[in-house]
Amino acid sequence: MRVPLLDLHGQMAPLREEILAAVTEVIDSTQYILGPKVEQFEKKVAAYCGSGYGIGVASGSDALLAALMALGVGPGDAVLTTPYSFFATIGCILRLGAKPVFADIDPVTYNIDPEQMAEALAQDAKGEKRIKAIIPVHLYGQCADMGAILALAKQYNLPVVEDAAQAIGAVYPMKQNGKTVWCRAGSMGEAGCFSFFPSKNLGGVGDGGLITCNDPELAERIRIIRVHGGAPKYHHGVVGGNFRIDPIQTVVLDIKLAHLPDWHRARRRNAANYRHLFAQTGLLESGAVSLPEAVYQAEGLTAGEDCDYHIYNQFVIRARDRDGLLRHLQASEVGAEIYYPIPLHRQGCVAGMGYENVSLPEAERAALETLALPIFPELTGEMQSFVVEKIVEFYTR
Ligand SMILES: Cc1ncc(COP(=O)(O)O)c(C=O)c1O
Repeated sequence: MRVPLLDLHGQMAPLREEILAAVTEVIDSTQYILGPKVEQFEKKVAAYCGSGYGIGVASGSDALLAALMALGVGPGDAVLTTPYSFFATIGCILRLGAKPVFADIDPVTYNIDPEQMAEALAQDAKGEKRIKAIIPVHLYGQCADMGAILALAKQYNLPVVEDAAQAIGAVYPMKQNGKTVWCRAGSMGEAGCFSFFPSKNLGGVGDGGLITCNDPELAERIRIIRVHGGAPKYHHGVVGGNFRIDPIQTVVLDIKLAHLPDWHRARRRNAANYRHLFAQTGLLESGAVSLPEAVYQAEGLTAGEDCDYHIYNQFVIRARDRDGLLRHLQASEVGAEIYYPIPLHRQGCVAGMGYENVSLPEAERAALETLALPIFPELTGEMQSFVVEKIVEFYTR
C-alpha cells in the first residue's frame, strides 16, 4: 500500500465541475484583477473568522509582509516571534530590515511560550526598546496561547500579528469576565495572516493569502499597500507592493470554504483514530513515540463536537531516532515530512546577526525529533493502520 502525505485528488474530484464552471465564468468575464468575486470571498472569510475585515493577498508570506508594513515595522525595529515555524514567519521581518527576537516554544504545543516571551520583552524594555510587534504562529492548526500573549501585548503596548497560515478556523478559549469565548484564529490580534497554499486546510489551485483585522483604518492601509501604496491610483503616499490575490483563486476557494467544517472534522476524526491505533502498540508507554496534544480539547468538548479546538493541518509526532523512522517510512512508501528541520535562529541567512550564542533548546529539540504523518481528510482507516504498522515495524526490528 502507498500512503501519500497529502493527496488532493480526493478533495478535488467531487468539486471539479463546480470549480471549472466558476473558473470559466471568471475567464469569460475578463475581470482578472480584484473585483466583486474577490470582495465576496474576502467578506465570507472575514465572517467565518469572526473578523471585521478581510483583504485578499497573493500568499501567506505577502499577508505577513503587508501587515507588518501597515503597522509601520521598518529598519532598526525588532519583532518578537517563535524560532519554530515556516521561514516566512521571519522572512517578512527580515525583508523590512527589522530583526527577529526569538522566544522559545512550549514543548507540548510547539507554539511560542508566553513565559519566554515575558522574559524577552522585559529584557528589551530594559535596553533599546526595539520590539515593535509580536508574531505568534498557530502551528500545525492549534492556536498559540493568545490570552497570555494578548496580556503581554497590552502590557507593552505592542500590536499582535497572528500567523494563522496553518490554522484557519481553529478556535482559542479566550477568558472574558469569567466566561469562555471561543475566538477563531486571526480574530484576536491586530491582524491575522492566512495562507491558501494547496496543502493548507483551505487550499487554492496555486498561491493565495488573506489578512483579517478589526480596525477599519488598518484595513484601509493594508488595501492601499496591496496596490503599491497607490491611493488614489498613481498617487503613492506610501510604498506598497503588488500583493493582490487573483479572482481565479478566490472563486475556487469560495467553493471550498463551504466544505471546510467537514474537512476539519475529518482531520480530527483521523487524529482520534491515530490515538486509538497508537494506544494499542506500546510505543507511547515506551516513549518511542509521543502524539500531538490538543490542549484545548477538554474545553472544546463542552463547546460541542464540532468545536475546532485543533484543525490538524499537520499531525506531528515526536519520535525516537526520527531520521531512521523517516527513512523506514519512505522505504515503505508512507509519506512523512519534517516540519521543520532547522530552527529559524539557525538558518544560514541569519548567520552573523548575533544568534550564534542564542540557545532555544525546545525549538532545537523539536527540529530533531518531530515528524508529520498523513492526516488529510480523505485518508482511510486502512491507510492509517498501515502507517502505524510500519512505525511499529521500525521500533520492533
Ligand atoms: C506558519 C506559516 N507562515 C507563513 C506561511 C507562508 O504562506 P505562503 O506559502 O502562502 O506564502 C506558511 C505557509 O507555508 C506557514 O506555514
